[in-house]
Amino acid sequence: MIVYLNGKYLPRKEAAISVDDRGFLFGDGIYEVVTVYQGHPFQMDAHLERLQDGLRALSIQGVDVDLFPEIGQRLLKENHLTDSDSTWYMQVTRGIAPRNHAFPPDDVPPTIYMAANSLHPNARFADKTITAVLVPDVRWARCDIKSISLVANVLVKQHALDSGVQEAIFVRAGVVTEGTTSNLFAVFNGEVHTHPKTNYLLPGVTRDVVLTLCAELGIPVRTIPILEQDLLHADEIFITSTSIEIVPVVALNHQPVADGSPGAITLKLKMAFQEMIALFLKQQHGEINSKS
Ligand code: PDD
Repeated sequence: MIVYLNGKYLPRKEAAISVDDRGFLFGDGIYEVVTVYQGHPFQMDAHLERLQDGLRALSIQGVDVDLFPEIGQRLLKENHLTDSDSTWYMQVTRGIAPRNHAFPPDDVPPTIYMAANSLHPNARFADKTITAVLVPDVRWARCDIKSISLVANVLVKQHALDSGVQEAIFVRAGVVTEGTTSNLFAVFNGEVHTHPKTNYLLPGVTRDVVLTLCAELGIPVRTIPILEQDLLHADEIFITSTSIEIVPVVALNHQPVADGSPGAITLKLKMAFQEMIALFLKQQHGEINSKS
């Protein structure tokens, strides 16, 4: 497998990072994950915008995010992924410098890494449902930054798996914000609710796609905080992310959500998402002209 590291395309085994890299020492960096359908990155502009926002938030200079699509295309070719589904992983850290919390001098270049990973069709969660537990949000107050410092998410994800469920949903001050690797939606009386974009959750690219689909389908939406106690009585719950798209949550805290099967609105949105991908691919293949 060929990956990109600091201007070079090289076998993954040969891609080495210094022990003085700020990503290794401090978790001082950000990352992005993009799904590439049949060789075409989905919502790339939105992902690059979020990456740019993250670089700005961390004051990391000297990265031209517009280079990532080109690097990604080269990685698809090098790894024979041009026609299959894959994911792009991009990571930028503040570079290599002796261990000192203060920023290194401006002339220290950031570390830039990108890989294209094959995505097995089954990984696309097409018919999957998940179960989840609620956990206190022990993370910092800048969850809007897609930081590589993911130790809280790692601990909580493992707690979920050890509890026999697949995802944990964070609760902060009685309000549910998001999952460890996903955004959260709940349906109450036909209305889709999700937390507004604040510093307490990642502004998910898939979250925005779902809100667009709701608007197109005429499904009413409220971007308001969802109380923990209300979530326990939701008609439907689903989570979203780039890699899992839309997945129904059928049990919460070991109790079924409604009757324990995926809800009608969730399934409608899942179908609309698949149609959106099909349309996107048609556009990419030049079968239709209009731009999404
Ligand atoms: N995670 N919230 C958190 C904490 C996440 O880690 C993610 C995505 C999301 C959903 O964002 P998006 O729709 O833009 O993927 C929300 C990625 C996929 C990951 O860590 O691998």
